[in-house]
Amino acid sequence: MSAALLAGLLALRLTSLGMVPLQAAVLQGSQRSTASSAASSTTSSRASSNEKKPPLRQAYVGDASCHSCHKGESSQYSETAHHLTSRFPSSKSIAGSFAPGSNVLHTSNQYLTFEMTSTKDGYFESAVEQLAPSKTLAHTERIDLVVGSGRKGQTYLYWKADTLYELPVSYWTELGGWINSPGYPDGSPRFDKPVVPRCLECHGSFFEWKPPPPNRFNKSSVVLGITCEKCHGPGREHVARYSSKSPLRHETGTAILNPASFPRDRQVDACALCHAGAAEAIAPPLSFVPGEAIDEYLYIPFADKDVPVDVHGNQIQHLEKSRCFQSSRMTCATCHDVHKPQRNAAVFSEHCLSCHKVDACGKYPQLGAEIAKNCVDCHMPLQESEVLVSDTNGRKLKPRVRNHRIAIYPDGSTH
Ligand code: HEC
Ligand code: HEC
Ligand code: HEC
Ligand code: HEC
Ligand code: HEC
Ligand code: HEC
Ligand code: HEC
Repeated sequence: MSAALLAGLLALRLTSLGMVPLQAAVLQGSQRSTASSAASSTTSSRASSNEKKPPLRQAYVGDASCHSCHKGESSQYSETAHHLTSRFPSSKSIAGSFAPGSNVLHTSNQYLTFEMTSTKDGYFESAVEQLAPSKTLAHTERIDLVVGSGRKGQTYLYWKADTLYELPVSYWTELGGWINSPGYPDGSPRFDKPVVPRCLECHGSFFEWKPPPPNRFNKSSVVLGITCEKCHGPGREHVARYSSKSPLRHETGTAILNPASFPRDRQVDACALCHAGAAEAIAPPLSFVPGEAIDEYLYIPFADKDVPVDVHGNQIQHLEKSRCFQSSRMTCATCHDVHKPQRNAAVFSEHCLSCHKVDACGKYPQLGAEIAKNCVDCHMPLQESEVLVSDTNGRKLKPRVRNHRIAIYPDGSTH
């Protein structure tokens, strides 16, 4: 088959999955400065993106196997947002309340309410429509998967045979209550938003994907939570090599990926799989393995300085716009140890001070040493997302996210 024909077929296949083929993406232009750029991709690399295959399920062993030898990295990992980001439903994993009085969500449609109930068969969401004074119609689905650690909120998913859908009611931590799921119109009893593979690729670790339609999966194959091997690559060989008497032990190489030994771009790429916002997939789901160049797998629009990038989930684009990033060897790991929870913004100032002196700040003469504890308040402000919005009962709710463009902001900047 000719390369051009292959590329044509790939474009067709991606379009039919609702993805933008690379060719179209390239026309929009890529402005990324650091990486080997997607814009220079040729027909042949497009074809090779299509040939990429995920590693086999058997190559992965799961987190429990890593714990015995790596206590330092493992002991607090189960408390991290990565580990908790997708779970089966339970009274522990679901943040919302099923208690009468707090289990109802009113909508802007006075004839429609949602009710969340818990029975011995599980946890449910129902849309209750008032058709006449004494006549109601209810549509009920069970919560089968919980997505979101609950730092900001949670969204719930349900299976209809082997297809996966989003439920209409989510949970919002800041409000401490139920909200209309982002993406669903307020006041409408809908349960029809399909869950595409990218959602599970960012919020989970493994699944077998069997389209069409694009939200069809092998239910029992889904591995929830972000596992160690998502960032370190398949671990079976490594475990075999280091388990007691294996003769392979003395062979060269550890047979596991350590991002610290990647070139800088590749270190950032390992996080970009999930932290570069709504990128378009140009290779099959789950085929990216850390250490590789992300732009062979995703088309990430690296906007120029004047184009606003939403704060939600776009840490890579923002950090790369910072002078700190451009003038140093900084990576995400400069500030983040992903093996433990880190929720104290003040502690991050120590990382700033590994490169800056307190008195380098223009505010130092005025505010003094006090600023040493809150560099990020002023230079990485919390800002509202404009893309992740919930329309709830006539109100617009937006989460606040830490802007990763380290810069000088006007005082009180939240936009
Ligand atoms: C039987 C013990 C054992 C198990 C199980 C194990 N490791 Fe290791 N691992 C080691 C040892 C020993 C080293 C140090 C190798 C060296 O420096 O030569 C190591 C090194 C590493 C490194 C650094 C590699 C490098 O090249 O710098 C990473 C990353 C790692 N392990 C991750 C994992 C993950 C993820 C798992 C679970 C899938 C795991 N390990 C399971 C024993 C183990
Ligand atoms: C497989 C996708 C994926 C990869 C790869 C990934 N992340 Fe995440 N990360 C997420 C998701 C999803 C969340 C939000 C989890 C939640 O709260 O439900 C998150 C949350 C975080 C948080 C917030 C944690 C908190 O407790 O507030 C940090 C920090 C973070 N990631 C850093 C990184 C860094 C650094 C890398 C690369 C070394 C990385 N992530 C790689 C998906 C990923
Ligand atoms: C490109 C990767 C990606 C995709 C696709 C994605 N998410 Fe996320 N999601 C993230 C990251 C990263 C965060 C944390 C973002 C932040 O704090 O800026 C997050 C945050 C969330 C949160 C809030 C978690 C918390 O407590 O903070 C929920 C809920 C969520 N996502 C649900 C979903 C659902 C449901 C889908 C699919 C229907 C989806 N996301 C698709 C990467 C992704
Ligand atoms: C979100 C991505 C991510 C996840 C998940 C993750 N790691 Fe890591 N890990 C990293 C990065 C990045 C580094 C390199 C850190 C650095 O640059 O210092 C690393 C380094 C390591 C190292 C080498 C430490 C050293 O001193 O050289 C080991 C061992 C390790 N991780 C084990 C684990 C284990 C075990 C788990 C699961 C409990 C895990 N990791 C989960 C990203 C991750
Ligand atoms: C790895 C080293 C490193 C770290 C960590 C670091 N920076 Fe920087 N930062 C730099 C360098 C280098 C520059 C550019 C200095 C220059 O060009 O004179 C810079 C520039 C800046 C600027 C000027 C920005 C502008 O647009 O003019 C500010 C403000 C700043 N840093 C604040 C911070 C804060 C706050 C933190 C912590 C959240 C931080 N930096 C962390 C290295 C770092
Ligand atoms: C200069 C330090 C620094 C670097 C480098 C850095 N971060 Fe952060 N990050 C922070 C701070 C500070 C917070 C806020 C922590 C808090 O409020 O608890 C944060 C929070 C986050 C969050 C949670 C966002 C939210 O608002 O809930 C994610 C996700 C994240 N970082 C990902 C990344 C990724 C991916 C990279 C690399 C592209 C990165 N960070 C590089 C300092 C840094
Ligand atoms: C109260 C808000 C605030 C805090 C806290 C703060 N800064 Fe600043 N910083 C500013 C402002 C505003 C400027 C620009 C001031 C000016 O030009 O007079 C600035 C300027 C800077 C610059 C650029 C100086 C230059 O000449 O290019 C650096 C670097 C910097 N700050 C680092 C830090 C570090 C590191 C911390 C924490 C130890 C910190 N800042 C804490 C508000 C703050």
